[in-house]
Amino acid sequence: MSFVNTFNLKVLGDERGQLVVVEGGRNVPFDIKRVYYLTGTQQGVSRGFHAHKKLEQVAVCVSGSCRMLMDNGQEQREFMLDSPDKAILISKMVWHEMHDFSENCVLLVLADDYYDESDYIRDYDAFKLLL
Ligand code: TYD
Repeated sequence: MSFVNTFNLKVLGDERGQLVVVEGGRNVPFDIKRVYYLTGTQQGVSRGFHAHKKLEQVAVCVSGSCRMLMDNGQEQREFMLDSPDKAILISKMVWHEMHDFSENCVLLVLADDYYDESDYIRDYDAFKLLL
């Protein structure tokens, strides 16, 4: 099984438009403690370039698209987040990078814990050593 878990969120919709529900402990495999979102990412800018020691996250492009690059230290996988019903689980100890943000991209991230800089591994070589 791949180290990258992607899943589809159920889209509820009618003639008025779409509605997508995310529920901690249900379609997201943890209790959600923090939500953040990336907007206005400049063309050509890439973000991420880190892994987390413990944090678990789920990312969804609720508008626009970006390319997720995931790396477990042994292999790399890419996944396009290009629909509001496509979600990717960013597990602990997975190096991740976000590339090719579309102009209108709103990248929503749900996390199982508060922000803690000491949980970040921002150096790829250090990440490899900790595996
Ligand atoms: P960072 O995680 O470096 O962004 P990315 O990996 O997506 O490129 O975060 C950018 C800045 O925002 C950094 O100074 C840390 C801060 N930050 C918080 O204060 N709280 C948060 O929940 C997050 C995700 C970042």
